[in-house]
Amino acid sequence: MKGKVALISILLAGISFSADKLIIKKPPESLSKYYPPKSKKFEFVSNMHKMSLAFYAVNLNINAENWEKAKEWARNLEKTYKETAKMVPEWKKYFKPELAENFRKAVESQNVDEIIKTSKELGRNCQKCHQDNMAIVKIMYRFPSFEKIKIEDPIEFTELETGKYMRKLSNSMKALRIFLLQGDTENARQAGEEFIERARQLKTMCTKCHTEEEKEVIKASMKKSSEALDVIAEAISAENIDKNKIFNSLNTIGMSCSKCHNVHEIPALIQEAFEE
Ligand code: HEC
Ligand code: HEC
Ligand code: HEC
Repeated sequence: MKGKVALISILLAGISFSADKLIIKKPPESLSKYYPPKSKKFEFVSNMHKMSLAFYAVNLNINAENWEKAKEWARNLEKTYKETAKMVPEWKKYFKPELAENFRKAVESQNVDEIIKTSKELGRNCQKCHQDNMAIVKIMYRFPSFEKIKIEDPIEFTELETGKYMRKLSNSMKALRIFLLQGDTENARQAGEEFIERARQLKTMCTKCHTEEEKEVIKASMKKSSEALDVIAEAISAENIDKNKIFNSLNTIGMSCSKCHNVHEIPALIQEAFEE
């Protein structure tokens, strides 16, 4: 008996899928009711945690041979599952209430073979929806939006949204390179000054999402590029411009742009793709 019961944990943990394609679908409209700005209670994901807790509680109690508790948690799981199924009508087809019911019945009958079978079926049902929808829901509802963030352009004194600001920043960086390559010192100085101001201004956007306590992490991540900006500032005001010094510093800055993009740009691009 014990041996068979221990099997349940292995099976519950071992269910997984692999995919040869990932289709990203926009999450259904009604899901937005359970996330900010409409709700701060995260009702949908909170039910998810309830179900996951109940699922494991059944497993834990069966292994401890506490059948009464196991049955209680199984009823609990069925109830939450059925409630959750009503929350997002567009996802009706993903929910199979009979699977939660069968699992509860199997636990009530204390039939271990049946429990293993039905828990696998229910577990697969959870996984199927996760595979199709979890990644995009996390990106759309959990990652803050850069759309609403405005940065003041220190050259033109206008408030710009992130994407537009980035294009201006990147253009002045390119202009600096181009004028240096052409040996056009005067224009290189001008483009260099604009680029430095725009790049230094970037740090004003960080605190729109990151808190004061995270300041050290932010500072550390900007340290190399801010040193490189100082080097460029010095080089462009020198009598004879040392191009290589500037190109090297631009490469350092470029790496720090990429670091930020790796974390922040990808979710922003996906969010944007789904915005009307
Ligand atoms: C907050 C961290 C952050 C830093 C630092 C940063 N970027 Fe960006 N960048 C973003 C985000 C977010 C987007 C996507 C914005 C959007 O499309 O709405 C983006 C987009 C871009 C784009 C594409 C703009 C478009 O929509 O066509 C360019 C080009 C760019 N960044 C250049 C740079 C350069 C050059 C630097 C460094 C000097 C830099 N970025 C530093 C966050 C950052
Ligand atoms: C109709 C789709 C769907 C079904 C069915 C479903 N889930 Fe989820 N689940 C989601 C989505 C979407 C998320 C991501 C929510 C978020 O991060 O805000 C999620 C998140 C979770 C999380 C949290 C993961 C994390 O990283 O925070 C757990 C745990 C979870 N689900 C357990 C379950 C269990 C157990 C079942 C089955 C009994 C189940 N889910 C069935 C869609 C579903
Ligand atoms: C629109 C909101 C937003 C803005 C603006 C923003 N970040 Fe982030 N950043 C996030 C989120 C969300 C994460 C993921 C981790 C988290 O939730 O704290 C993150 C993670 C990071 C991380 C890695 C996680 C860590 O704590 O080590 C770094 C480094 C970082 N951001 C730097 C920056 C810098 C530098 C800026 C300004 C140039 C910036 N961020 C602007 C939202 C933002």
